[in-house]
Amino acid sequence: MYDGNKIIPGLVIFLGLITFPFWYNIGSAAYEKPQLKLPEIEKECVEPKDWIRAEHMQLLDDWRDLAVRDNTRLYVNQAGKSFDMSLSKTCMSSRCHANKAEFCDRCHDALAVSPYCWDCHVEPPIVEE
Ligand code: HEC
Ligand code: HEC
Repeated sequence: MYDGNKIIPGLVIFLGLITFPFWYNIGSAAYEKPQLKLPEIEKECVEPKDWIRAEHMQLLDDWRDLAVRDNTRLYVNQAGKSFDMSLSKTCMSSRCHANKAEFCDRCHDALAVSPYCWDCHVEPPIVEE
């Protein structure tokens, strides 16, 4: 026996329930932009911001390999300025990203990335202002 009056609403409720996890998350599942604490002293990175944001992982791996394997330690940037290829002394110096927690970690945590560099490299101490 078919009862159209019950089947159609039943189907609607059923579809609503099984698709609940999808529509419940609309909007909220979107990626939330992390709030980063930028360096206060040095305003310019070794390379332009957009470039470094996209390429820093590769750049740091290259720096590591060049420094450790080839003992090449001078990096000349796109503008011709040179820097010491050093994670702690250049990127994370007191003039730049000394605050790992509020810069590097904020973005890495938001994106579930966990570089293992600090298993060995020392994170600079936070100086309380
Ligand atoms: C705006 C976001 C963002 C910020 C800020 C950021 N990172 Fe990253 N970082 C990423 C992403 C995304 C990846 C992962 C890339 C991948 O897996 O391809 C990554 C990966 C890395 C890696 C991985 C390299 C490897 O081979 O495992 C290193 C090293 C790294 N970041 C260093 C840093 C340091 C140091 C800082 C702070 C000075 C920093 N990052 C700040 C987004 C960020
Ligand atoms: C197993 C320990 C270890 C890990 C993990 C490690 N490093 Fe190193 N790293 C070293 C040692 C040891 C040196 C040599 C120090 C020197 O000669 O100045 C070095 C040197 C470097 C240098 C050049 C010197 C400097 O002052 O920074 C860079 C750049 C570097 N590592 C980047 C990285 C990056 C990026 C990661 C993560 C993707 C990483 N390292 C992970 C041990 C490690």
